[in-house]
Amino acid sequence: MAYYIGADLGTSSVKLILCDRSGAVVRSCTKNYPLRYPHPGWSEQDPADWWNAFSEGVRELVSGIDGVAGIGVAGQMHGLVILDAEDRVIRPAILWNDGRTFEETDYLNTEVGREKLSAYTANVAFAGFTAPKLLWVKKREPENFERIARIMLPKDYINYRLTGVYATDYSDAAGTLLLDVKAKRWSGEMLSLCSLDRSQMPRLFESGACIGTLLPGAAKELGLPAGVRVAAGAADNAAAAIGTGTVGDGKCNISLGTSGTVLISSERFRMDRNNSLHAFCHADGGYYLMGCMLSAASCNKWFCEEILGTGDFSAEQARIGGETLGRNRVYFLPYLMGERSPVNDTNASGVFLGLRPDTTREAMLQAVLEGVAFAVRDNVEVARSLGIRIESSTVCGGGARSPLWLTILCNVLGIELRVPETEEGPALGAVRLAMVACGEYPSVRACAREPKTAKTYPPDPETAARYEARYRAFRKIYPSLKELFSELR
Ligand code: XUL
Repeated sequence: MAYYIGADLGTSSVKLILCDRSGAVVRSCTKNYPLRYPHPGWSEQDPADWWNAFSEGVRELVSGIDGVAGIGVAGQMHGLVILDAEDRVIRPAILWNDGRTFEETDYLNTEVGREKLSAYTANVAFAGFTAPKLLWVKKREPENFERIARIMLPKDYINYRLTGVYATDYSDAAGTLLLDVKAKRWSGEMLSLCSLDRSQMPRLFESGACIGTLLPGAAKELGLPAGVRVAAGAADNAAAAIGTGTVGDGKCNISLGTSGTVLISSERFRMDRNNSLHAFCHADGGYYLMGCMLSAASCNKWFCEEILGTGDFSAEQARIGGETLGRNRVYFLPYLMGERSPVNDTNASGVFLGLRPDTTREAMLQAVLEGVAFAVRDNVEVARSLGIRIESSTVCGGGARSPLWLTILCNVLGIELRVPETEEGPALGAVRLAMVACGEYPSVRACAREPKTAKTYPPDPETAARYEARYRAFRKIYPSLKELFSELR
């Protein structure tokens, strides 16, 4: 019997699953690691923590199992990992939700210019992307910049430790702002703008390609045979789309993880003329458009754990009655880490609006869930403005475990939501990439079917109409505060 390992290297933990040839999940485990905020707006992790958690998880997953054939890793996007000529990690990884590069982002978008960036890469600069981070290291830590021999994304670091092969895949490379997304090659213009040489960049692969087999040392550490094949892997959002069957043309997947994303798959290259949505390469060989919110399920976690002092999210949500949906007078702007899509503003912050002496904790929690749903709608509206019809969507990530949140979301968006039976979006996508790398399937699309639907959430016309009015009010909050956010920076 052949088995495959899929890993999702997330922001708070690595989730690992072991699947058999049919794609059924046989075992799973999660290993946490710390996330550090050394300064306000900064967000860092130690790549050694990723490796230790990953290897501990794999050992646990495969104990007593023979026949593991392949590994696929999906990972948090945009994180900057830099290694010196001796393969030592130079500094902690700077993550996707780190906002320190507002000056560099500004320089790229205004001095280099959005038009040029868009022509070189199909995207403009956002603070979390990799290129502005390299400019930041060059300016603030020149001694570190000088030592850079290899630049990698988080999952590429794991793959490098597994195989010794310096590689990345197109879906993850797309989020660096160093890739010409349409042509699928490193952009010479962007490399020279960032004072980089091609030799510092990883070799590019399609996500389902086999980049190599396990190094003897890694095989021993993981308790696996050295012949195990490793797929190039994918960006977590692309992998989640593979796991939920969001491939080919015009399908949508919404992820409510630490970040929130709305991903629309496309067979051909396309981009948003305003660059509010990212135009990235997909793990199925095609492309996708994506809106990314920096704080989604993390808003609920923050409000419950830090403010209400409880880890029991469902008990807290059970106090919210169905009759209150669309009738809440409290609003919440979910910009805890600033915001990426569509407003691209590192200064923005979280805001409660509409508090009164009779405001309850239920109303505030409901506002948090609704604020995230409205922010998802902002991204869906950008897609709609490009003529994209979104009539339904799969939904994955931790937030998809909350029936209340999904009821709110389907009514805010006015579309039907489907929750797949397996909730392991990115890890399942990663397993599928491993299967392709091992020849179980001829292509990623051939294995990326949508899993069975566990539950469907159809919008209710009356509730949706109430939310429509509230969404119109929500849309006015950010523009009224934009100036103030900048003053308060
Ligand atoms: C996408 C993004 C996030 C991370 C989270 O552009 O930055 O979704 O990938 O892991």
